[in-house]
Amino acid sequence: MSSAASVDRVHVRAPGKINVFLGVGGRHDDGYHALATVFQAVSLYEDVIARAADEFSVTVRGVEGADVRDADAVPLDDRNLAMRAAKLLAAAADYHGGVALEIRKSVPVAGGMGGGSADAAAALVACDALWGTGFSLARLHELAARLGADVPFALHGGTAVGTGRGDQLNPALARGRFDWVLVTSDEGLSTPVVYEQLDRLREEEGALADDPPLSLDVPIPVLQALRSGDAVQLAASLHNDLQAAAANLRPDLEETIRRGIRAGALHGLVSGSGPTVALLCGDPESAQAVQTSLQQDGRDALHVHGPVPGARILV
Ligand code: C5P
Repeated sequence: MSSAASVDRVHVRAPGKINVFLGVGGRHDDGYHALATVFQAVSLYEDVIARAADEFSVTVRGVEGADVRDADAVPLDDRNLAMRAAKLLAAAADYHGGVALEIRKSVPVAGGMGGGSADAAAALVACDALWGTGFSLARLHELAARLGADVPFALHGGTAVGTGRGDQLNPALARGRFDWVLVTSDEGLSTPVVYEQLDRLREEEGALADDPPLSLDVPIPVLQALRSGDAVQLAASLHNDLQAAAANLRPDLEETIRRGIRAGALHGLVSGSGPTVALLCGDPESAQAVQTSLQQDGRDALHVHGPVPGARILV
């Protein structure tokens, strides 16, 4: 691989996601659970700017106007997923320089919307362009899957079915645009803790229940609803197996969903491992009304839409 930098600055934007459907099966020996999920990328973005440098470094800040309170809590060392992505790509490409990464966050930290995964996907694309690595999308996807279960989707974007650990992706046909209102929280939730809570709740439910399957599928009605572009149909199929676990840790989440529905949302669910709540609305106007109503209640609500593209270079 070439070690000559072809440009000295690359700006990449990658989206946050909602899990429109999230089925969680049994836990494999590696600690990961079998998933069948449908991701949708939404118009809330992480921006990563990569600049040529001899060493690896990362800075993080919330975008002005964005509701990101915990940007300071994001680690700036090798625990940072974007930093790990850059180092993984450098090792794979036998590149001997470094990179200075600047992350501008809009996706809530530890919010269940894949913000860290978006940073990692953006860092892969940015460093590939900065260093002139020239890896194929398939190769970047393979590196992405090594960084985390949600990272391949942040590369891919749009609407996609994820199986395996959530990293085996197949595009899903989705017509039109879906309007969502996101209700963010002051305090994040740790993804591993939410999965552990699910295991605990399942254990308590006890001996009568069947073991969760080690392979599972997305129900057909979810895919049909996406294909039809019909928000009412999709609202009827929204489901998240992690919701009970997240709500057990954060009892206010169920009330937020009820409040959103009372304000006019078609339905709502916890996004991924939470605590962000995603409320599906019938059109942009009703989403606007739901957002305003929740804000008047003192909640932090954002109107976004999906699907949007995955990590891409901005010119
Ligand atoms: O892959 P990622 O780092 O995003 O996953 C964070 C944590 O979420 C994992 O360490 C694991 O505890 C849990 N997880 C899981 N099963 C999955 C995906 C994530 O148990 N399919």
